[in-house]
Amino acid sequence: MGKSLTRKILEAHYVAGIMTPGEEISIKVDQTLTHDINAVMTYLAFEATGLDRVRTECSVSYLDHNLLYVDNKTPDDHIYLQSAAKRFGVYVSRPGNGICHTVHMARFGAPGKISMGGDSHTPHGGAVGMLSIGVGGMDVATAMTGVPMRLIMPRIIRVNLTGSLNPGCNAKEVILEMLRRVTIKGGLGNVYEYTGPAVAEMEVPARATIANMGAEMGATASIFPADGQVKKFLSAQGRPDAYLELLPDEDAEYDETIEINLSSLEPLIACPHQPDNVIPLHEAEKKRVQQVFIGSCTNTSYADLAKAALVFKGRHVHEDVSCTCAVASRQTYRQLMRDGYIEILLDAGVRMLEIACGPCCAIGQTPATDGVAVRTSNRNFKGRAGSPSAQIYLVSPESAAATAIAGTFATAEDIMGADVALLGAIREPDCYDVDDSMILAPLPREEAAKIEISRGPNIKFLPVPEPPATRLCAPISLKTRDNVSTDDITPASAEFSSMRSNIPLMSQYCYHRYDPDFAARAREMGQSIIIGGENYGQGSSREHAAINPMYLGVKAVIAKSIARIHKGNLVNHGIIPMLFGDASVYDSLEQGDELVIEDLIGQIPAKRIQVKDTTKGITFHTVLDLSDNEIEVILNGGQLRTLKKKLSQNGAIR
Ligand code: F3S
Repeated sequence: MGKSLTRKILEAHYVAGIMTPGEEISIKVDQTLTHDINAVMTYLAFEATGLDRVRTECSVSYLDHNLLYVDNKTPDDHIYLQSAAKRFGVYVSRPGNGICHTVHMARFGAPGKISMGGDSHTPHGGAVGMLSIGVGGMDVATAMTGVPMRLIMPRIIRVNLTGSLNPGCNAKEVILEMLRRVTIKGGLGNVYEYTGPAVAEMEVPARATIANMGAEMGATASIFPADGQVKKFLSAQGRPDAYLELLPDEDAEYDETIEINLSSLEPLIACPHQPDNVIPLHEAEKKRVQQVFIGSCTNTSYADLAKAALVFKGRHVHEDVSCTCAVASRQTYRQLMRDGYIEILLDAGVRMLEIACGPCCAIGQTPATDGVAVRTSNRNFKGRAGSPSAQIYLVSPESAAATAIAGTFATAEDIMGADVALLGAIREPDCYDVDDSMILAPLPREEAAKIEISRGPNIKFLPVPEPPATRLCAPISLKTRDNVSTDDITPASAEFSSMRSNIPLMSQYCYHRYDPDFAARAREMGQSIIIGGENYGQGSSREHAAINPMYLGVKAVIAKSIARIHKGNLVNHGIIPMLFGDASVYDSLEQGDELVIEDLIGQIPAKRIQVKDTTKGITFHTVLDLSDNEIEVILNGGQLRTLKKKLSQNGAIR
């Protein structure tokens, strides 16, 4: 039997472990990326290791999410991050250069490499045949030290694409269809490998839309072959030497196959409040739309925005709609400007925003109270856009433009009629406008050693957990519903994002929109346990959803299931992630119940923990779905302590 592309890349980076799905392996990581609203903790952790330079082929620090300097906090963070990057041999992509995933794929992406990023949409890079995996910030710090990374060997799913997209349909329809079928938690532990005749016709930025939003299925990664389209893209980026043909074997073995005929797809829409709540756009109940946002790393390539502009051409944004657009990179912006598309958008009344993530993570453009907002981004969780009462719908750029014109849900065909066929002719440029003047290359080692790291008042300390105690007696501080997201735990917005370097301050807003009393209650309890439902901690990779509860004294999360990246973050930050042995116990537990675990340290290695609810008088057991290495991390009191131990054992630090 032949090998899949994913298996080939993993074998080339293999260090240890058993390459059977579900087993843990260790792999070498070539590249890392971080971004401004998560990375301060990552660089504080790297500093704490005592190493003087990163040990990857390339590490890049992107300043891209929060460019609204509403007070001193974000500029403090940006100055710290830029100086830390210079000190440790890391590239910096400066504010205004573009969103991490878009820029990284274009300027650093390379077939066959493995990249890890402190952001759940890192799999974007899979569009150029790179195995790109989203992880927590502490994991990125670990990868930067050159220590091999733990990874659960994924199941590899083939997605065979046939047919061709109809004009007015976008790669967004492909990933929304995947979400409709697979659901937000169905991709856990999987890598989706796209193949088939339709892939050969699909340009790299369209592939990136699909790879990027694979994160919404909970997948480890998504990947496309490094073929003629990748060769064309990298040549157009002025990097033909980065190309390497990398394909799955013709008789490659897969764990499962999904078939999608692109010709059968019609414009789709993900309805509130989950990205898998997908229906045909024409079936959506017509509502008055208050806001349209065309932007994010998912869907603002040159072709995406040129198509949206053609829908707008000669038309105007509806008078009741506020329509904004944030282009994903300076490169794309300039190209669109030169080709006249920005002018069309401006003529139509579209408000052009900064080149940044911005509204995607509630940094500006929050919808009105109860507002209906249509977005081209990737998540529509309650509160994700900054307003808990808003209803967020996800669509393609073509449908977003049509909706902005109509004032209610509409497709490009509804607006353009037969002219919708014109959209099919738009392609990516043969040659991109390359200008890396906003990327700072690493300094030579001697120069880097002289750099002083700047620490403004917003840069606080990295809290480090203690190893678990022998006996845990703690009340339940919170019981959550299913599908709680990291946005629920650590809210997004310009205000909250700028607090992420300041845990004493930010922890006060832990679960702020979900249960505003949680932080005070947890602090008063001293130490506590959270009870979660299914898919606890889905969504963004933000490790603050583990750091803040840890800082507030949360010692364990007992849930029906826990999302992959969040589980890793809990382990890294010393919170024990437990799963109910019998999920029906969830119904019996209540906030305030006292839970007691005797001989916790003795029980952890067996991965089965007996818990007594002394309030209800019931005893139940939980399981630790963790590898032996993760158990070691828990017993050590988190990843930083473990990493320092490893680095001192191998002589890298003293
Ligand atoms: Fe940024 Fe939103 Fe992508 S926050 S990285 S544009 S998912």
